[in-house]
Amino acid sequence: MAKKTEELKGLESMRRYAEHWAKNAAPGMVIGLVGELGAGKTTFTHFFAQALGYTGHTGSPTFTLSKCYRAQWPIYHIDCYRLNSIEAFVQAGLDAYLPSADGITLVEWVNKFPQLLPKHATVIELAIKDEDTRTVSSFKTE
Ligand SMILES: Nc1ncnc2c1ncn2[C@@H]1O[C@H](COP(=O)(O)OP(=O)(O)OP(=O)(O)O)[C@@H](O)[C@H]1O
Ligand SMILES: [Mg+2]
Repeated sequence: MAKKTEELKGLESMRRYAEHWAKNAAPGMVIGLVGELGAGKTTFTHFFAQALGYTGHTGSPTFTLSKCYRAQWPIYHIDCYRLNSIEAFVQAGLDAYLPSADGITLVEWVNKFPQLLPKHATVIELAIKDEDTRTVSSFKTE
C-alpha cells in the first residue's frame, strides 16, 4: 500500500498534525519518530505533549536519554541519538516504556534500533522539504 505523505508548512501546521495524534492517544501507545537532524521530532513531541495538557518545558532529552512529562497521561520522551547499542538502551531501563503500562512513549531516532518497537507501534517519518516545510508520513508496525 502506498504511504500517504503530507506536507506541513509552518509550525502551526505541525501543531495541528501533533494534535490529531494526541486526540487518538491512549496509555500504551508507542510512537517512533524518524527523520534527519532538525526534521521536527522534538517539535512534534512538544506539540503532542501540549495537546495532552502539558504546559512545562519540553527540551530534547539527547543528553538525559529520557524525560517524563506529566500530561493527561505520563508522556515518556526518549532519544536514541546518543545510544550506541540496544544493550545501553536496556541498561538505562528504557525498554520498560516499550510500551509503558500507564503512559505514552515517544522515541526519537528509533530507526537506530527498530527491533525495539513493539507490535502496533506507530512510526512517523519526518523530512525537511524547505526551511519551514516538513513532509510527514506514518505507518504501524505489524
Ligand atoms: N513545519 C515545521 N515543523 C516542524 N519544525 C519546523 C517546521 N518549520 C520549521 N521548523 C523548525 O525546525 C526545527 C526542528 O527541530 P527539532 O529539534 O524538532 O528537530 P529534531 O528532528 O528533533 O532534531 P534532532 O535530530 O536534532 O533531535 C525547529 O527549530 C523548528 O522550529
Ligand atoms: Mg530532537
